[in-house]
Amino acid sequence: MFPLPEFFEFYNPTKVVYQIGIATSLKPELDIIGIKKYFIVSDRIISDLGLVKKVADGLAEAGCEVTGEFLDVAQDGRLNDVKTCAGQIKDSGAQGIISIGGGSVIDTAKASNILFSEGGDLVEDYSGAHTLTRPLKPHIVIPTTAGTGSEVTMVAVIYDEENKEKLAFPDKFLLPNLAVLDPEMTVSLPPNMTAGTGMDALTHALEAYVGIQASPISDAFALGAIELIVNHLPRATENGEDIEARGAMLIASTMAGVAFTHSMVGCVHGMAHATGGLFRVPHGIANAIYLPYGMEYNFEQIKTRLARLAPVMGEHTAGLSEEDAARKAIDAVYKLREKLNRLGALPLRLRDVGVPEDGLAAIAEGALNDGTSFYNPREVDPEALLPYIQKAY
Ligand SMILES: [Fe+2]
Repeated sequence: MFPLPEFFEFYNPTKVVYQIGIATSLKPELDIIGIKKYFIVSDRIISDLGLVKKVADGLAEAGCEVTGEFLDVAQDGRLNDVKTCAGQIKDSGAQGIISIGGGSVIDTAKASNILFSEGGDLVEDYSGAHTLTRPLKPHIVIPTTAGTGSEVTMVAVIYDEENKEKLAFPDKFLLPNLAVLDPEMTVSLPPNMTAGTGMDALTHALEAYVGIQASPISDAFALGAIELIVNHLPRATENGEDIEARGAMLIASTMAGVAFTHSMVGCVHGMAHATGGLFRVPHGIANAIYLPYGMEYNFEQIKTRLARLAPVMGEHTAGLSEEDAARKAIDAVYKLREKLNRLGALPLRLRDVGVPEDGLAAIAEGALNDGTSFYNPREVDPEALLPYIQKAY
């Protein structure tokens, strides 16, 4: 066992409901929240799949009104979209928000809720951490990917297209009121997005588990998530209609979200954020590419934890030294990545996703400047990190 932390806090007020089909029959939950007018935030792809209409029909049946829809969320939630979306929510007379989508949609809805509830300018008035002073308007989240965990996290990540960087707004009042986990909402997710977002969830859980702010409570969520992901991500990627695998991945990504909103993430996310900002590589794919190399970079600091993790990932460690057992956890990550790669769903190298070789040093610098570097188990030193980024290339 590990030494207990001297101090930790655990705050998890978001209600989570899980059931196949529940996204279209939310009346009991809507009655508890008690408002009748909702504004929907989503994107065109989700809408074209008919998922927005499904939820809207369910709302009407439950006696609620949809006052409007914002469906223009881009691949990354963008600053300008937040402004436009918040204005539309306000003008529509809504009392609350329902977001239906992946991380970008959910984070756009979270950030829009700040402006909708409190007014002002997102960057000028709400930069920094925990700037809000009271609860925002109700926000229900229906994830359509199993990865971001944003339905249970206190952060909104928004892309500043002018400065080409991702801005994080961490605030406990951004925690949604309700997370609705309905595996039917994720069955149309294509294999590459299933794999990428699933690897994002794995990275959340793994970085939370080895993070310097880990506690026995965040550990429980992280370990539970990792076990579910290792056993179900290849299944969900191979057969999108596998409703049990879809359900397990949704639950896992929520558990991973709870883990990392408490224990934070480290240099894998730091590198992924920099790579996403500079070269537009999707977040989950960047994490999948960097994950084993980030584990190698931190190896000395995290080997005790990795040794305990390996059996959870299906590796046999009986009779092995701590160091060898720890290596097995990294092997398990390589194996999972290769499985997904063989399914044609996951690129494994930076060169395969359009990152130029002369951009690697900028990624190392970006990882240092990313907020996650405070929480990495080993000091993020761009010079020491660069060889690991080169390995990922
Ligand atoms: Fe992530």
